[in-house]
Amino acid sequence: ATRALSSRLYSSAAINRLTVIGGGQMGSGIAQVAATSKHDVTLVDVNQEALDRGKGYISKSLKRVAKKKFADDAKAQSEFVEQVMSRIRTTTNPAEGVAQADLVVEAIVENIKVKQDLFASLAKAAPEGSILASNTSSLPIKAIATPLTAEQKARFIGLHFFNPVPQMKLVEVVRTEEASQEAVDNAVAFVKAIGKSPAVCKDTPGFIVNRLLLPYMMESIRLLERDVASAKDIDTAMKLGAGYPMGPFELLDYVGLDTVKFIVDGWYTEGEGLKGDKQFVSSGKLNELVKNGHLGVKTGRGFYDYSK
Ligand code: 3HC
Repeated sequence: ATRALSSRLYSSAAINRLTVIGGGQMGSGIAQVAATSKHDVTLVDVNQEALDRGKGYISKSLKRVAKKKFADDAKAQSEFVEQVMSRIRTTTNPAEGVAQADLVVEAIVENIKVKQDLFASLAKAAPEGSILASNTSSLPIKAIATPLTAEQKARFIGLHFFNPVPQMKLVEVVRTEEASQEAVDNAVAFVKAIGKSPAVCKDTPGFIVNRLLLPYMMESIRLLERDVASAKDIDTAMKLGAGYPMGPFELLDYVGLDTVKFIVDGWYTEGEGLKGDKQFVSSGKLNELVKNGHLGVKTGRGFYDYSK
């Protein structure tokens, strides 16, 4: 029991300082949950405007959390928001941003070359022994790690969060064949320390959740294309008949149709073991919506109209 306790203390003590690269929805969500659980957080983005936008997402979401946590106590609510925000510093300089990090999580654009270049320079600037992680949802972790040395690859993993990050309890911890057991153990301890539940998974397309979710989403679109039922009826069916919190079309619009298209197109053309898999063949309906800029909730229209 003593050994279990000391290893637990060691593991959770191992990661105190987190640096998040990318202040979009995912990156700011990750920064928020880590700061809420008393970690020192550095948020990095390309310019001040992006950082301000990220901080805006965080304070909005924190206010929502605070309202529930301290109902009827406006003072406690604003103190909570202020305290958490005070643990988040921002910078536009990635090398300076990662200089003290125990863990670096990247949540930038889903472009393999951009991520490889970023990690090539971050790996040099981050402390020896720090864990390097990508929040990619669809790119192979080992491909992102290509420019790293063998020693750096041993501490490079996937840490995949879900949207909305403050609310979704799961984080997939993705281990490559090169990743060390220590890196995986420390990442698992970090996930628990921020109040989430880890699921450890091999580095395969879509990991666990998206590998199951994307075929389901694509098959839902094909049901609609075959005119089996309306989007609304399919959503009602899956919510009330299968207990899902959102129906497939609500979820598609929430995740973003451009994101979904990017993932399935990538897997269909070059996904390891998925190339040419008919589950991921493109859909006329999805292509048309994306082509017309109807990307879901974020543009006010996707399968549903949110403009009213
Ligand atoms: N910040 C803080 N809290 C938030 C939040 C946010 N951004 N968004 C929602 N919440 C909280 C609410 O405050 C509320 O808390 P409470 O239950 O304690 O009062 C709770 O979440 C529920 O929110 P709402 O009542 O507003 O709405 P719903 O009950 O409809 O829940 C939902 C919203 C949590 C988004 C729920 O519909 C859901 O779980 N949907 C499925 C989401 C999902 O599947 N996400 C994964 C997408 S796939 C992905 O991310 C992978 C990527 O790689 C593609």
